[in-house]
Amino acid sequence: MLERFVSCPAPVSEAGFEKEGTVADKGTYEVFDRSYWRVWLRSRDGKPFVEACLDEMIGASSEIASKFSAAGRERMGRALLVAIIQLAAYSQSKEPSDMLVEVARRQSRQGLDIPPRLYDIFADSLVRVVARYDPRYTEATGAAWIEVLTPGLEYLKSHYDAPPDGTAA
Ligand code: HEM
Repeated sequence: MLERFVSCPAPVSEAGFEKEGTVADKGTYEVFDRSYWRVWLRSRDGKPFVEACLDEMIGASSEIASKFSAAGRERMGRALLVAIIQLAAYSQSKEPSDMLVEVARRQSRQGLDIPPRLYDIFADSLVRVVARYDPRYTEATGAAWIEVLTPGLEYLKSHYDAPPDGTAA
């Protein structure tokens, strides 16, 4: 069942790999991408990947727990899958999508107030869950996830105190 997701198309175009200045090279991005398709719909002991991620993040930080519980679990589950795709796309294009700009604006200090340290907890928690859910996980897989997610997380962190101009809500 899971195997069919491994061959799903990457969320960004191949052309993205050719651009100069991308952080994740093709090899790194592919390692991340294949791992993502192995885990995103996987369940272990009846718990879907996305639920395990939410639990890991909530368990890692009481600040995250209170932000997530205010928004509601279903919404945060959806947001998490969108977040991963948005961060991955940014690692290739280095151009924030309208959605990433909007997230940076809404999650800044004046908005939802998500401080930079929470993004580090977000990434570390995610990788811990990937390690449990990806049957082919190795250290290189975890390193690839971190390398691919980091530029987008840095983008969000850098706008905590200086939100970008908002796009249409
Ligand atoms: C620990 C870090 C994070 C926390 C605590 C957090 C918190 C939240 C909260 C509370 C909401 C709900 C907003 C609402 O109800 O209006 C939200 C929505 C969202 N977040 Fe985050 N977030 C985090 C990281 C990220 C990252 C890294 C991204 C990457 C792009 C992201 C993307 C989104 C998106 C796309 C939504 C909108 C979901 C929707 O409207 O259904 N978040 N986030």
